[in-house]
Amino acid sequence: MKFFLDTADLDEIAEIASWGALAGVTTNPSLYAKIGGKLEDFQDHLKKICELVDGPVSGEVTGETRDEMVAEGRELAALADNMVVKIPMTVEGLAACRTLSDEGIDVNMTLVFSVAQALLAARAGARYISPFVGRFDDICENGVAQLEEVVAAIGNYDFGHEVEIIAASIRSANHVREAALMGADIATVPYSAMKKCVMHPLTTQGLEKFAADWAKVVNA
Ligand code: G3P
Repeated sequence: MKFFLDTADLDEIAEIASWGALAGVTTNPSLYAKIGGKLEDFQDHLKKICELVDGPVSGEVTGETRDEMVAEGRELAALADNMVVKIPMTVEGLAACRTLSDEGIDVNMTLVFSVAQALLAARAGARYISPFVGRFDDICENGVAQLEEVVAAIGNYDFGHEVEIIAASIRSANHVREAALMGADIATVPYSAMKKCVMHPLTTQGLEKFAADWAKVVNA
C-alpha cells in the first residue's frame, strides 16, 4: 500500500516528503480553506504541491454541472503532469469523469460510500476511487468494512484501465493497518495520523536503551 498525504499545507508536504516514503498528495476544498487559501492563489498553490511531490496530486473541482467540472478539470490537469482531477461522486461527476478520462486525464472519484458508487466510478473511467472510512464511522457505520467491500468488488473485474483504491478519511494508524491488511492500493493520511504511524513506544524505549548502553561503551 502506498502513502499519500491528505493536506494542502506546503510545510507538511515538504516535511513528510523528506521521509522518502511519500507517493502522492490529496487535497480538497476544506483542506485548502483550512490553510487560509485564497481563490486567486488556488492554481499556483496546486502547482507548488505538484513540484514538491514525486507522484500524483489530487486537486478538486467545485462546479456542480458536468460542463463546469469538465472545464475546471481541464484547467487543473494543465497545471502539471502529475495533477489528478478530483471529482465528487454524483451523476454530473460521473459524466465529467467519462469525458476527462476519455481525454487521458486521471480522475480521482471522491465521496464514495458504497460498492455501487465505486463500480460506477470505475466504469466511468476513474483512475482512482476514494471510499471514505472515518466519515462512515462518524455516523455509527463501519468504515473499514465498507472499504473492504469496495476493495473486493473492484478487484473482481477488469475495467480495461488501471484502477486504484485510495482509502480516504483516514483518522488513525489503525485505519492504515486495516486498509493495508485488506489490500487497499493507497491510504491518504492526514499529517497528524502520519506522525502517529511512524511512532511506536517500543521503538522509543529500544532507542533509549541502545543510547544508554552505548554511553557505557563510550565511557568505559
Ligand atoms: O481527502 C478527503 C478525505 O480524506 C477527507 O477526510 O477527515 O475530512 O473525513 P476527513
